Amino acid sequence: MKTAMSTMNAIAHDRYGEADALAPVTLPVPSPGPRDVLVEVEAAALNPADVFKMRGQPRVLRLAGGLTRPTVRVRGSDMAGTVVAVGAEVTHWRAGDRVFGEARSGSLAEYALARDDRVARIPDAVTPADAAASVMAALAARDGLAAAGIAPGADATGKRVLVIGASGGIGSFAVQLAKHAGAHVTGVCSGRNADAVRALGADGVVDYTRESVTDLPAWFDVIFDNVGAVPMEELHALTSPTGMVLPNSGLAGADGGPLMKVLRANARRFLLRRRYRTFLSMPSTAALAEIAGALADGTLSPLVDAVLPLARGSEAMSRVASGHARGKVVVVV
Ligand SMILES: NC(=O)c1ccc[n+]([C@@H]2O[C@H](COP(=O)([O-])OP(=O)(O)OC[C@H]3O[C@@H](n4cnc5c(N)ncnc54)[C@H](OP(=O)(O)O)[C@@H]3O)[C@@H](O)[C@H]2O)c1
Repeated sequence: MKTAMSTMNAIAHDRYGEADALAPVTLPVPSPGPRDVLVEVEAAALNPADVFKMRGQPRVLRLAGGLTRPTVRVRGSDMAGTVVAVGAEVTHWRAGDRVFGEARSGSLAEYALARDDRVARIPDAVTPADAAASVMAALAARDGLAAAGIAPGADATGKRVLVIGASGGIGSFAVQLAKHAGAHVTGVCSGRNADAVRALGADGVVDYTRESVTDLPAWFDVIFDNVGAVPMEELHALTSPTGMVLPNSGLAGADGGPLMKVLRANARRFLLRRRYRTFLSMPSTAALAEIAGALADGTLSPLVDAVLPLARGSEAMSRVASGHARGKVVVVV
């Protein structure tokens, strides 16, 4: 563990825009508030949520994130590293603890602040890169499947699960979790990712560049859509009589942006009695500890698109912004 410094290297932006708005900067090391831990970051991982914050889109996000420029300048939230200082009210963590979770000050930096109840311990057998890669995406996969009736520990034998975006961050974890629960899993991705998705455990793969998802039989118990390229009504038509669709946003898509999609899904659920389920995944120490256990025992293993150094943070973000990363983009610090 290094001695805490007063300044740090970070990747930050002062204007909303594409990845070229992000640049290496030197910033003061943030000071922990009463319930914060200060973590010396070893690895960070990126998500579409970081792209939304980078672009300031959907624009409604700017109400919380800064109307004309980002108030938190450092992007990234998933991180893993070592606690170097704790706030006055923190009792559970101390300097030297290896933790992973959600940084509230941005994770593309040498140091990051996290609330004490949004981190969990990294098991000895798990690398910081794998831990960081599993924060938001693995939790969302777990929470989405749970919303569709496949909670951790559930027996999904006999259920048919369709994962759209199976080679993405969430999809790659969802394939593994649904398979572990005993489900029959079909993954949707492009042909270049078909082998990777099969290696995650998928029983079948649909190459969306050659076949239309809408030609599949109407027998799915769960359709976990992480892309949004197919209108949700068309996905609903592919469900079994009790099956449900998880319209999990998407960077853009046929049903509008992520917030509009959630509103539409819930409106149709109540007005048209469609079987849509939306969910909002939030990290907690308990949920992250569950993910840590699954990483340690081999139930989960992140699919990693690329591992890049902090200085190439902008390039890392543009890989995620493309919408075609194969699994997680990890940044080592
Ligand atoms: N509800 C929540 O709490 C929650 C939490 C976190 C994230 N999210 C949302 O979940 C969504 C997915 O996140 P993610 O991290 O999984 O995204 P991601 O990793 O960026 O997804 C990229 C993957 O999508 C695949 N893809 C692109 N177009 C496709 C298509 N038409 N059909 C099938 N696959 C396609 C790509 O494969 P190819 O290169 O082969 O095309 C790529 O591997 C995002 O919109 C995010 O905002 C929701």
